[in-house]
Formats: sequence, C-alpha cells, structure tokens
Amino acid sequence: MRTLALALTLALGMTPALAQETADSVAPETATALGSTLAGPLAASQAAKDAGQPVAADDWMVVAAHPLAVEAGGRVLAEGGTAADAMVAVQAVLGLVEPQSSGLGGGAFLVWYDAKSGEVTTLDGRETAPLAATPQMLLGEDGQPLGFFDAVIGGLSVGVPGTPMLMQEAHRSWGRANWPGLFAEAITLAEEGFPVSPRMAASVQRDAERLSIDPQAAQQFVPGGAPLQAGDHYENPAYGATLRTLAAEGAAPFYTGDIARQIVDAVENAARPGLLAPIDLALYRVKERPAVCADYRGYDVCGMGPPSSGALAVGQILGLLSPFDMTGLGPDDPHTWRLIGDATRLAFADRGRYVADSDYVPVPVEGMLERSYLNNRSELLRRDTALPKVTPGTPEFDHALNWADDADFARPATSHITIADAHGNVLSMTTTIENAFGSRVMAAGFLLNNELTDFSFRSHRDGVPVANRVEPGKRPRSSMAPTIVLDNGAPVLAIGSPGGSRIIPYVANAIIAHLDWGMDVQQAVSLPHRVNRFGTYDMEDEAMAAEMQAFGFEVKTRSLNSGLHAISFGDRLQGGADPRREGLALGE
Ligand code: GLY
Repeated sequence: MRTLALALTLALGMTPALAQETADSVAPETATALGSTLAGPLAASQAAKDAGQPVAADDWMVVAAHPLAVEAGGRVLAEGGTAADAMVAVQAVLGLVEPQSSGLGGGAFLVWYDAKSGEVTTLDGRETAPLAATPQMLLGEDGQPLGFFDAVIGGLSVGVPGTPMLMQEAHRSWGRANWPGLFAEAITLAEEGFPVSPRMAASVQRDAERLSIDPQAAQQFVPGGAPLQAGDHYENPAYGATLRTLAAEGAAPFYTGDIARQIVDAVENAARPGLLAPIDLALYRVKERPAVCADYRGYDVCGMGPPSSGALAVGQILGLLSPFDMTGLGPDDPHTWRLIGDATRLAFADRGRYVADSDYVPVPVEGMLERSYLNNRSELLRRDTALPKVTPGTPEFDHALNWADDADFARPATSHITIADAHGNVLSMTTTIENAFGSRVMAAGFLLNNELTDFSFRSHRDGVPVANRVEPGKRPRSSMAPTIVLDNGAPVLAIGSPGGSRIIPYVANAIIAHLDWGMDVQQAVSLPHRVNRFGTYDMEDEAMAAEMQAFGFEVKTRSLNSGLHAISFGDRLQGGADPRREGLALGE
C-alpha cells in the first residue's frame, strides 16, 4: 500500500489536461497518466487497460475507480473475504482518494448475487429528505425553480446519508471478515497521505471557488487559497478519525452520536442552511428491496428498482429492442443506433412520468416491463426515421397514473464498484454524493451529498403533481443502474457506471455490446458512446453523426464521461475498467 502511494507520488509530476464541459469530467488521457509507474499486478492491470484488453482471473476480481481502492479490495478478497467485505474497504478508500464522487456523506444502491441461495437482492442506501422538507423547498421566492447551483451549494440539498449504514448492513448480511480491519488501508492513507490524482486535481481546480465557501472544504481542497495539484501529498486526518470511530463502533455514531452532531452543525451553519435535524439521522434505515429483473433474450437483467429508475429504464430499453435482431444488425448499422436512440427516449418518457420513491408514489413496476406493453411500444420503432415526438405510454396498473412529466437535472458524478469473490458471490454497487463534491459542505472529514436536487424542483405542472416531488422522508429518484445479468440463474455479467441520467444508456449499450455483439467487457466499456435521452443524440465520435442527422435526430458531439466497471463470468472472470477514468480491474 505505502509502496504504491509513493510510486504514485513520483509519477504525478504532469499537468492534467482538463475537459471543461461537465461538472465531473476529465479528459481520458489523464486517466492513463495515473498508472504510468504502478507496480506489480496493478501495473499489469493498467497495461491491459491501455491495450484495450480485459483482465482475466480465476478466483476473484474487483473493479473500481482508483488503484488504491482496487488494491484495498484486492487485499480483502485475496485473504478470503467476501465481495461485501471488499466493498467496505473499497468504499472507505474511494471516499478519500476520489472524494468528488462518493463517500460516507452520500448514498448507494447495492445489487447482490448470493452464491449459496442463487438469489439476487438489492439494498437501498439512498439519501432521504428531512422530515422538515416540503414540496416547495427547491423553489425560489418567485415560485420558480432555484438555479441548479443555488440549490446545490450549502445545506439545503443535503439528504440523510445512507452509505455508512449500507456498508454495515452489507457486512452484517454477507461479510465474513473482521469489520475493523476493513478500514485499515483507508485509515493509513488518510493519516499518512497519498498523492492527489490528476482527476481529483482537475475536479478541485474546476470547483475551487465553490469549495472555498465551506471552511472545512476550503482547508482540505484549496489550502491557503491554492487548489490541490496532481501529485500533491494529501492527508485528511479528520476522515481518518471518523473511520477509526466507524471501525470501532460501527455506523451508530454516524446516525446518533458525535458524527451525527457534526453533520447537523455543518448543515445548519452552511451558507444556505438546510433542514436536516438529529431525528432525521436517527430514523435512517437501509431498505432491502426485491431486485427488479427484466428478460432480454432469455437472460435476466437484474438491478435496482425505485427509488432508482435504473433497472426499469435499462430493462425497458432492452425489452423494446428485443423484437429486433440487434446481433444481425451489429454496431455499424445506422438503424442499430436509430433503434437504440429511440428505445432510450421511450424509456426516458416513462421514467420522467412514473418513477419515484415507491414508498410514496405507486409505481407501475411490473406494467412497465410487461411483454405486451413493451411489444406495443416497440411497434413505434418500426419506421425508417427518428420518432418525431415521444410521449409516455400507459402501462397496466391498478392505480391512477395521472402524474406530470418531470424535468431532469441529474449531472454526471458518482462511482461504480463491481466485485466477484472466491465464494461465487457477486456485488454491483453504484455510490454517489450526486454532483462533483456534493453540496460542498464538509463534516468530520467527508463531503455531504446534494442528493435532494435529484428531486423535481417543481412540485406540480398545470395543477398536476410530479411523482418525484420533494416530500418529508422520501428518497429522490435516481438513475443509478448497478446491474447483474444472469443466464439460467448463473451470473454472466456485472456492470454499472456513474454519469447522472446518462448512466442508463451507458449501461444498456454496454450490455448490448457484450450480449448481442460478443464484445468482451473491456471492449464493451470502451465502445464510443452514443446516447439519447430526450431527443438530442450525444456522441463521442462522428462516425454515425451524419446518418443520425439524416434520420432526423439533432446530434451533439461531446466527451461523455462514463465510468463503466464490469466483470464477465465465463471459463474465467474478465474485468473491464472504463478508459475514460482512472479505475482498474484487479483479479487473481
Ligand atoms: N445522483 C445520481 C443519481 O442518483 O442518479
């Protein structure tokens, strides 16, 4: 561990190229710079990634967004720990080395394949609105939605974090390693320091002004007014102290003890004070929910149901494409991308109207994935040009579906962890603090989320309520799509990505690339992105731009900063890490 941190320090003398476009995007070339002097198995992983090859292994595999996190997870797996154990170690390190994307102050969704029972279940560790929240809280005095960053920065956007309790619940359910030991690497790194990665430095650079508003965040990320640079030695002793408390006492102090008090103080004293109170933290619970599984060509594509729209939207996209011969069409036929683009738009139309926290809003989960409903919607795609207009369908349901359509603000940030252990268990977990650096408010060494801005800012339209409006105790709708694909009950693929609402097409397209086009996981996560959510076709390459324009799509060429991390299960495990970020696959 220390050796790697030192090697990284020596390696990071370069200035990262910055992509200015999105809140959490860094040009892909900075990602490979991080690994240029990695040692041992991590160096081999980086070389495989640079060569566009998957990492192969027989016993276990971990794929995550930073080599230090991957190394911590690998140590746990090599010692016989489960995927749940390894996740705790990975998440504890990620919250330190990639603080812009996830951490203790955020939330996560976890999909678990259990080797013993053969069952897939999900844990909902989503952030929760305080009891004092109201449907109008994201509106200004003029009754209009607050500007995005006006709502994000400060205490108002902070929901009750779920990640610490999720780590504990996963460990209680499926762990076998000693809990305190899972924090060892993260504590050492927090207290002794590590070199700032190009990606973290670029994120700090872009956000320096907003980070400077909060005293703790300013001290950590913009010390003395100078934003951290790539290769700077970075320590976070407050985070180390918090981890020591969690390691010794579990998640309780986070929700009812001293850490809870620090969180509430930070929210109350933020530039825009929030509504979080001690009772909100004390009442927080992780919810185990049944996985939502969709059929795709005989495979079961399983993921996180409401409050996430992830599994429903990915399942709908695949279900809408099922009647078409995607294998025969292949990735080079323009009609492939017409079909994928419009199937995604149809799924987003249903998502925008119907999906919210199902503990508050009846969501037609089964109806949205029902074969005859999808077949009918699929008929809309039998044409030669782009759909001129897309509206939500009316899935079968025993409740009124009279909701207004939702405006979507989700921006790209977040992180994804995929793990297979030597016992046959599989974990796919997407973890977030929402926007890059979340609310920019820091407490006890970690950043607090801004997840409440994943609610609709408007509570209603033309007198009709929005399903995803803010309500006390409700969880905001997510796009996170941690996924496990099964064939006859056995895992064949585990995958997920960050990327705001583009997570959905990133994951769906990579599944198609792997299952229909036979691409290995590294090819599937590296494929140039072509994603369409609301009509505009966002593309990383120009290859299909003219054809899509001829079909009638508006096309925008831009960088698209996914962070797909995947494992496939065949004769051997194969891991693929998104070339757009600093992550690696590591296995044995
Ligand atoms: N905040 C990202 C998501 O939940 O989709």
